[in-house]
Amino acid sequence: MNVIEAIYARRTVRKFTQEPVPTHVLRELVDCARVGPCSANMQPLKYKLVEKADVDTVFPYLRWAVAIAPEGDPAPEERPTAYIIIAADTLIRPQNYEIDVGIAAQTMALAAQEKGLGVCLMALHDKPGLKSALALPEQITPALAVALGYPAQKSEIYPMEAGQYRYHLTPDGTLHVPKRSLDEILL
Ligand SMILES: Cc1cc2nc3c(=O)[nH]c(=O)nc-3n(C[C@H](O)[C@H](O)[C@H](O)COP(=O)(O)O)c2cc1C
Repeated sequence: MNVIEAIYARRTVRKFTQEPVPTHVLRELVDCARVGPCSANMQPLKYKLVEKADVDTVFPYLRWAVAIAPEGDPAPEERPTAYIIIAADTLIRPQNYEIDVGIAAQTMALAAQEKGLGVCLMALHDKPGLKSALALPEQITPALAVALGYPAQKSEIYPMEAGQYRYHLTPDGTLHVPKRSLDEILL
């Protein structure tokens, strides 16, 4: 799979098989992010791998597919089998690291695509709570969760109509995700 194929094939996945993701694969994804671009080359981001029994710690801090809740929530047997929590080391950079976080997230999502994994990038609504639950060091601020696993859900894109950006589930459980046209986004 080349990079452009991965870009088009990648879709958010919110339901997973329970086959574990090997730790060395999680480490490889972080290593891809490690060499990515970042502002001023300060490299303030740190990563927490969450696997095995610890995945239950993260789940309560996430909100799944708000546009279609609760239908988009993974059932207990469909939950992610791992998370990579992207965090900022505020001793290196106390603020303005969010663009670095986005770049790291997409870098890992594309690398995960090549490895046959599904990913859901997830906002964190209670960062202090998750920080405490994961016993992260004082200077570490969680920024984004990357939920991971082998996909158990299909997702397809289709041309957006009349600005309707909300995705939906079809009766067979496939996600249908509208995307704006190239002509609409070119200024
Ligand atoms: C910064 C960011 C935060 C997101 N947070 C959530 C989230 O909290 N819960 C969720 O289910 N999906 C979340 N998503 C996934 C988006 O809903 C998804 O990317 C969007 O619907 C488009 O689908 P696609 O990724 O298949 O193109 C997030 C995506 C990004 C980039």
